[in-house]
Amino acid sequence: MNTAATAGAATGPRPARLGEPLPQDLLDDGERLTREQLRELQLDRLRATLRHAYDNVELYRRKFDEAGIKPEDCRSLEDLSRFPFTTKADLRETYPFGMFAVPMADVRRIHASSGTTGRPTVVGYTENDLSMWADMIARSIRAAGGRRGHKVHISYGYGLFTGGLGAHYGAERAGCTVIPASGGMTARQVQIIQDFEPEIIMVTPSYMLTLLDEFERQGVDPRTTSLQVGIFGAEPWTEAMRREIEERMDIHAVDIYGLSEVIGPGVAQECVETKDGLHVWEDHFYPEVVDPFTGAVLPEGEEGEVVFTSLTKEALPIIRYRTRDLSRLLPGTARPAFRRIEKITGRSDDMIILRGVNVFPSQIEEIVLRTPGVAPHFQVQLTRRGRMDHMTVRVEARPGAGAEQREAAAKTIAQGVKDGVGVTVEVAIVDPETLERSLGKLRRVKDLRQQ
Ligand code: DLL
Repeated sequence: MNTAATAGAATGPRPARLGEPLPQDLLDDGERLTREQLRELQLDRLRATLRHAYDNVELYRRKFDEAGIKPEDCRSLEDLSRFPFTTKADLRETYPFGMFAVPMADVRRIHASSGTTGRPTVVGYTENDLSMWADMIARSIRAAGGRRGHKVHISYGYGLFTGGLGAHYGAERAGCTVIPASGGMTARQVQIIQDFEPEIIMVTPSYMLTLLDEFERQGVDPRTTSLQVGIFGAEPWTEAMRREIEERMDIHAVDIYGLSEVIGPGVAQECVETKDGLHVWEDHFYPEVVDPFTGAVLPEGEEGEVVFTSLTKEALPIIRYRTRDLSRLLPGTARPAFRRIEKITGRSDDMIILRGVNVFPSQIEEIVLRTPGVAPHFQVQLTRRGRMDHMTVRVEARPGAGAEQREAAAKTIAQGVKDGVGVTVEVAIVDPETLERSLGKLRRVKDLRQQ
C-alpha cells in the first residue's frame, strides 16, 4: 500500500508499512516473552484453569471423572491431550449459565451467539475477563497498524454478538477514538466515514463489500477516504477477497479471528507487516489442531480442526473447545513466540459434500473473484434433482456487462470449479444488485434440499 500514506485527510500516525516491524515500545509484556518463558507461563495457567474448571463446573467435573483424569495429572502442555473435549452441545445442554465457574454476582457481562439451530450459546465475563479481552483486542489493533490517536469505525454489530462491544472496548484500551457505528444504515455509515475521517475500520469482509458498493453508489471513490487499515473477521474470507478490498479501497486488509465461546474477537490476529496468517495470543488461548474424525492431536503444519483452551478466563473457563474451524498451526513470524494459524477458509460444517466431493464456499469465492465481468457477490444454492444433489452458483454481473460477457463469465466459473474443485455446477449470472447483501455475517449457502 503505497498511496495509503497520503490518502484522504488522515491526521493520525501512520500504521506500520509492510515489512516494517512494530517498534519495541509498542509491544506489551506478553509479546516480549520468549517462547520458553511463554510455555512455562502457559503450563502454570493451564493447570490453574483445569483446577478452576473442575472445582466449579459440574459438567467438567463429570467429564474429567468419566475420563479418569484429574487436573493435577496435567504435568506438561502435552498432557492436555488426555483431557476431554468441550463442544457447542455442552454449552447448549447447560443453557443458559450452567458452565459459569463464578457466582452470578461476579459476572459483569453476558454475550450470546445466535446459532442457526436450537438454543443460542451463552457466555459470561468477569471484570478481569473483560479487561483481558480489551487487552487482546488492543494488541490486535496495534498488530494491524492501529495506534493511539487513530479513529476506529466499528461496524461489527453491537448487542449480544461479541463483535461490536469486543472491538469497542479494545479500541478504547488501545487509546483510539471509537466510532460505534454498529451494523446497518449503510448510507449513513458511508457519510460518517467521510465526515469523521477514521483511519481504521473493523467490520465483516462481506459487509465491507456492501459499504464499498454504497461508496460507489454515492459517487465517492473509496480509494480517497481517510481509511488506512481494515480489520476483517467473523466469517471466512480468502486471499482473493483481500486483494479485491485492498485494491478497491487502497487500504491494508488484515484478518482477526475469534469465537464467543473462547472470548470473542481477538483470539488471533494477523500482523500488518507480514500478512501471513494469524498469531494466536497464546498467553491466554492455547491452540491445538486435531484430526476432526479421531480427535488425535496433529503435529504442527498439518491441517485439521482448531481446538482452544482458555488459560486465564474466570467466568467461563473453556477446555479443549472444538471450534469446527479448519486450519493448521505454523511457527510465529512477526511475533516469534506466538504460533500462527493459517487463514481459516472453512468450517467443517460449512463444507458441502456434493456427490462425494468436499466443496467449501471459499473455493468458489477464489474463482468468482478472478473472473472478469462479475461482481464479488455470489450465493451457493443446493437443490435435489431426482436423487442427485445439484449446486447452482448465482453470481452478480458487474454493471454494464453485456450478454456475451455474462455468458463467458458463467463458462469460466463453471470450468474453474470443475478444474479446481472437481465438481460440475450450474452457474447463473444474475443482474447487478439482485443478491442479498450482507449486514454482518453472511450466509453464502442456501440449502433448499429439504423443501
Ligand atoms: O464471530 C467473533 C468475532 C467477531 C471474530 C468479530 C472476529 C471479528 P462467533 O459469532 O462466536 O464469534 O463466531 C465464531 O466465526 O468459529 C469461525 O467459524 C468464524 N470466524 C470468526 N473469525 C473468523 C475469521 C465471532 N477471521 C466463528 N476467519 C468461528 C474465518 C472466522 N472465520
